[in-house]
Amino acid sequence: MKTLAVISRKGGAGKTTVSVNLTMAARALGVKAVLADADPLRSATDVLGSREDAASLLFPTTPAKLFALTQAASRSGADLLIIDTAAAPESDITQAVKVADLCLAVARPTYLDLSAAVRSAQIIKHLGREGMIVLNQCAPARRGVEPPAVVKAFDALRFAGLETAPIALRSRMAYQNAFTSRTGVCEADGKDSASLEIKALFRHVWRALKAQGEAPIRTANDDIRMFEALQTLG
Ligand SMILES: Nc1ncnc2c1ncn2[C@@H]1O[C@H](COP(=O)(O)OP(=O)(O)OP(=O)(O)O)[C@@H](O)[C@H]1O
Ligand SMILES: [Mg+2]
Repeated sequence: MKTLAVISRKGGAGKTTVSVNLTMAARALGVKAVLADADPLRSATDVLGSREDAASLLFPTTPAKLFALTQAASRSGADLLIIDTAAAPESDITQAVKVADLCLAVARPTYLDLSAAVRSAQIIKHLGREGMIVLNQCAPARRGVEPPAVVKAFDALRFAGLETAPIALRSRMAYQNAFTSRTGVCEADGKDSASLEIKALFRHVWRALKAQGEAPIRTANDDIRMFEALQTLG
């Protein structure tokens, strides 16, 4: 099993949007993904907690319990555990970074978010973990031409010391509408622009995770076993 921590020191950058949508994209592509909500604000739980499949999909937790949760998720047969974290100082996200095979630092293409992403990159490297920066809430490209802010963001991040994912998520109503209906964007027809970009981002991230070592893709429906194993954590 692989573990992905989604972090950013700036509130509202899109950690929950990225975590929830990557989890659902993974599942749509046959990867058994579960989501740990380690943010005391419980935004991911607000989105997914009332779904029928919540018990086998979503695990509200605390940073202190993340190590045990990772082990339980692995034992239960999950392929991927994604951790949504709080916008918090280093000390509060250290646990998530430490248990992660890969940390995604989410940033909007703004000066303050990019500065925060560079700091996050330093923390990730300081803790000896691997990371990737994901740009979110970018203005859409027009006729294939990137908005100047997005070009500048990619440019500035060349010096962050971590790869920036080549797929930047755009600012789209689909992300907000999906949350209103307690879903990820790829649960509708799956062919709209938001679905395509989040699946493309997932594939990129999953390739990076697999390049670290074996991460078998499981397609079997094993929800009950996973549910029982994770419930033992209380
Ligand atoms: N790509 C996007 N397109 C449109 N809206 C977005 C996008 N990403 C995030 N949002 C919206 O921006 C707001 C903040 O996003 P989100 O809650 O995912 O950020 P966060 O980093 O998890 O925030 P917090 O720090 O409070 O946990 C939400 O209303 C969300 O719907
Ligand atoms: Mg959040």
